Formats: sequence, C-alpha cells, structure tokens
Amino acid sequence: MSAILSIRNLGKSYGSGARVLDDVSLDIEAGEIFALLGPNGAGKTTLISIVCGIVNPGEGHVLVGGHDIVRDYRAARALIGLVPQELTTDAFETVWATVSFSRGLFGKPANPAHIETVLRQLSLWDKRDAKIMTLSGGMKRRVLIAKALSHEPRVLFLDEPTAGVDVQLRQEMWQVVRGLRESGVTVILTTHYIEEAEEMADRVGVIRGGRLVLVEEKAALMRKLGRKELRLILQEPIPAVPPALGAYDLALSKEGTELTYVYNMKAERPGITSLLEDLSAAGLRLRDVTTRESSLEDIFVGLVGERA
Ligand SMILES: Nc1ncnc2c1ncn2[C@@H]1O[C@H](COP(=O)(O)OP(=O)(O)OP(=O)(O)O)[C@@H](O)[C@H]1O
Ligand SMILES: [Mg+2]
Repeated sequence: MSAILSIRNLGKSYGSGARVLDDVSLDIEAGEIFALLGPNGAGKTTLISIVCGIVNPGEGHVLVGGHDIVRDYRAARALIGLVPQELTTDAFETVWATVSFSRGLFGKPANPAHIETVLRQLSLWDKRDAKIMTLSGGMKRRVLIAKALSHEPRVLFLDEPTAGVDVQLRQEMWQVVRGLRESGVTVILTTHYIEEAEEMADRVGVIRGGRLVLVEEKAALMRKLGRKELRLILQEPIPAVPPALGAYDLALSKEGTELTYVYNMKAERPGITSLLEDLSAAGLRLRDVTTRESSLEDIFVGLVGERA
C-alpha cells in the first residue's frame, strides 16, 4: 500500500533559532486514523501547519497523494482538510452558507449534494439554516469539521478536536471520526489524551521536543503503557459504589465524590467507554473526568528513557 501522506526528514526552527521540529519522518496509509500525542509545545501544531502549507518547512519534504507541498502546493492542499486548534467561526453566517463558501475557496464547483451529505454525516442537517452564533459549542466544532470536509479532502487533520470538551461531546467526536473513516477519509488527530488514542487510533505517534520519538500500532503501544488511572468526579456524593459497577473494582474517595478506576491496558477488563455508559445507567452524573496530567509525561519518559 502506498502512503497518502509522506513526511521526510522535516526540520523547523523559528526566528529565535529554537529547534521546533527535528528530522521528523512519517508515512500515513490511506484509511488510517493516526493519533499524534505529545505535551504542550512538542511541535504537533507546527507539524500540521507545515503539511497544510501555513508554515514553511525548514528542511525536508512532504508529499500528499504524491504531490509535494511546496512545488505542487495547490494539488497537495486540495487533498487536505484542516480543523485548526483555535476555533474560529463566522457568527452571522448560516451553517449552509459557511460550509458552501469553504468549498468555493478551493475553486471547486458548487455541489449541494456533497454539502448535504457532509451536514447529515455530522448531524447538522437540521441546523443548516441556523446562524452559527446560535449553535452550541459542540455544534460549532462540527461546523468546522464540515467546512474542512466541504472540498472532499482525502486527509483530514484535527488539531486537538476534544481539548476542553466534556465527556459526552468527546464521545460524540469519536463517533464522528469513526464515521469519517468509514467514508474513506484518512484522519490525523493530535491529542493530549492517551484515552483518546486508545479509543480512536490505529497507530499512535509520540512527539516530544520536536522529535518523533515513537510510532507504533496502538495495540502494541497500549500493552506497553500498562497501568493507568482514571478519576471520575461526581456531581453528587454517593455512600458506596453501586453494585452494578462491581465489575470495575472502583475505589471511592472518603467524601464519596470521586471514583478512581485503575486499569491495565494489557488486561481483558471492560473499557472506559462501557464504564462511562454503565456510570450513566447507574444514575451517576459526572462533573469531571481526569487522568493524572503528569502520567502522559511519565509514560513518555519511561518509554523513551530521556527527559525533555
Ligand atoms: N510562530 C511561532 N514563532 C515562534 N515560535 C513558535 C511559533 N509557533 C510555535 N512556536 C513554538 O514552537 C514550539 C512548538 O509549538 P506547537 O504549537 O507546534 O506545539 P504543540 O505540540 O501544538 O503544543 P500544544 O499541545 O500546546 O498545542 C513551541 O515551543 C512554540 O512556542
Ligand atoms: Mg498545538
């Protein structure tokens, strides 16, 4: 199989001379969901920005569908959809108008049937005539995805699609991404959340200090990660763990407001998705869900044996 995206020896320094990307090489196969994990400032957005032609590559080459992103920019860019990390929307436009307009920017002829397909796929069809400012945050995010898909790209970049969104919306986003893959789009997403990579990705890349320190099949990576801790902060305190949740071996905090789920990626234990479903079925409402923020960092350090 040939790669839809091929990155070779990419390097980048900004004006200050600081090295932001260093000798990054990566091939993405068509139809993959690839998750790029890494701490703040690791270079994820810079990497995406170079592939999308927003930032100039310092050194190296990138091919999208065989087109060089510098020499053959238009052909390469036409194959790419980008949902940027920073959310921006045109408040006063309707959903239909803004998504159709995005398609026009790529010089593609109007195709109402395609726009309809995209809006239906993202559950935005009923909102097609609504002004964007009247939509919820989750809907606005989906409008950005619809815009990025308006010109029928083959590769979609999602730069932290679930940063700062609640559990329900995060799961909704995961559904959307799976649906996109089924429709034949290759998806590359960045995230800070190991859980997200676990749920979504076929392969995972870890970037750290501008270097791609690891690229691996998700299943293999998850086996290496081992123990993980998920903290579920409840809206209301409970006296005891409901019997229906017995299978998860949850620990309840003294105040009754926090459940901790310790799990091992290797073990055949119920996954996080089913845990969240069962929590909700047991009538427990969540205020927040966290994994220890440092744990990802710890894992990286353990995995690559070096400090940033
Ligand atoms: N325009 C710029 N000029 C100078 N330095 C920059 C510029 N854009 C990014 N950087 C630096 O490049 C490094 C990588 O930034 P980048 O935005 O790619 O990280 P990231 O992995 O996307 O981080 P985050 O998880 O916070 O989004 C950071 O040190 C950042 O300060
Ligand atoms: Mg970023």
